[in-house]
Amino acid sequence: MLDVKKIRADFPMYYNHPQMQGKPLIWLDNASTTFKPDSVIAAITRYYTEETSNSHRGDYDLSYHADLAVAEARKTVAAFIGAKPEETVFTAGTTASLNLVAFGYGAKHLQAGDEILLTEAEHASNVLPWFKVAEMTGCRVGYIPLTKEGRLTPENLEKVITPRTKIVSVAHITNVLGYQADIKALAAIAHKHGAVLVCDGAQSVPHIAINVKDLDCDFLAFSGHKLCGPTGIGVLYGKYDLLVDTDPFMTGGGMNAKFDLCGDVGYLAPPLRFEAGTQHLAGIYGLKAAIDYLQSVGMDRIEAHERELKRYAVEKLSKLDKVILYNKDSEAGIVTFNIQGIFAQDAATFLNSRGIAVRSGQHCAKILTDFLGTLATVRASFYLYTSKEDIDALVDAIAHSEDYLDAYFL
Ligand SMILES: Cc1ncc(COP(=O)(O)O)c(C=O)c1O
Repeated sequence: MLDVKKIRADFPMYYNHPQMQGKPLIWLDNASTTFKPDSVIAAITRYYTEETSNSHRGDYDLSYHADLAVAEARKTVAAFIGAKPEETVFTAGTTASLNLVAFGYGAKHLQAGDEILLTEAEHASNVLPWFKVAEMTGCRVGYIPLTKEGRLTPENLEKVITPRTKIVSVAHITNVLGYQADIKALAAIAHKHGAVLVCDGAQSVPHIAINVKDLDCDFLAFSGHKLCGPTGIGVLYGKYDLLVDTDPFMTGGGMNAKFDLCGDVGYLAPPLRFEAGTQHLAGIYGLKAAIDYLQSVGMDRIEAHERELKRYAVEKLSKLDKVILYNKDSEAGIVTFNIQGIFAQDAATFLNSRGIAVRSGQHCAKILTDFLGTLATVRASFYLYTSKEDIDALVDAIAHSEDYLDAYFL
């Protein structure tokens, strides 16, 4: 296990917020977003207080300095996922990255009769852009069946993939149940059938070591704010040839090589082609600092820490008869459950009264509710600063929830 006390000393939310709130802060909503360490906040502040300037737009030292900082950050991000800097595009987050693939690559290459394969467990941002692309191109969206526990397997992809399948777009780790897909095997099947594999890494890149060359995925999307970085910054990795074959989703300054009165336009090569307009420079500074921070702890150690927390939470929650657990066996530090007879949102409101922040509802994966056979669930999700005491607090609150919930609802 990681030394949580030592790690928490780096996170101001742990020493500022409790005093303000007057109750303990038990943050179990890390699949939604994460706290930021001092070094990330310092990097953002450094940009605003010492190094403010635009990049690629000035012939003076400050602007040149910003260019260097962006290039340095791109190198750090690329190395973090085993990519090359020119394959690493800064975006506003996973949603923006997936939309860029859907509209820049999908809409360009798909046609009527083609097929996009997803699963029922995908987040809205890996479903809705594809619906739109299907509407625009006349192609169809299909679903790879999940196993009865909710897992995506290569065998099930093999059963439904056809020569018409051009895109397979799936989460590396799903955000409700936390199952980890074998992206390498899925990519091999997709490639054998001439399809590209898009990987939604929103819930994997922050939690496990990733190497895109080893996974052999064609695109990978993730967000900074889920890995201790700032909101509003994210990444799209794409194999370089595929990025070259992708249209810019947004056009404007900073991404064109030339344009004239007659509409003759030339775009810059990737990744700049996809970075129209002034970039979120403070976000880029912060993202680099977040990745440096995670690497200083070690991704393998973070993964092991979360797995142990997951094991511990499942062991403890399984002992409570009133808890229905939906994902005992999944890999990620995500526990999804309901309290017997209590609507998920009410359970979350009750837990909040104990200072425990969990997510309730459908978690943006609205198709999955039919699969789970329940309208809503409660999700507790962990990170490197989560302790076993946090889980004890959750278990204890649920164990003693009856009086409160009875009083609350009757
Ligand atoms: C699996 C998955 N994909 C995509 C997203 C969207 O991420 P963002 O809101 O940072 O764009 C999330 C966010 O929760 C997610 O969990």
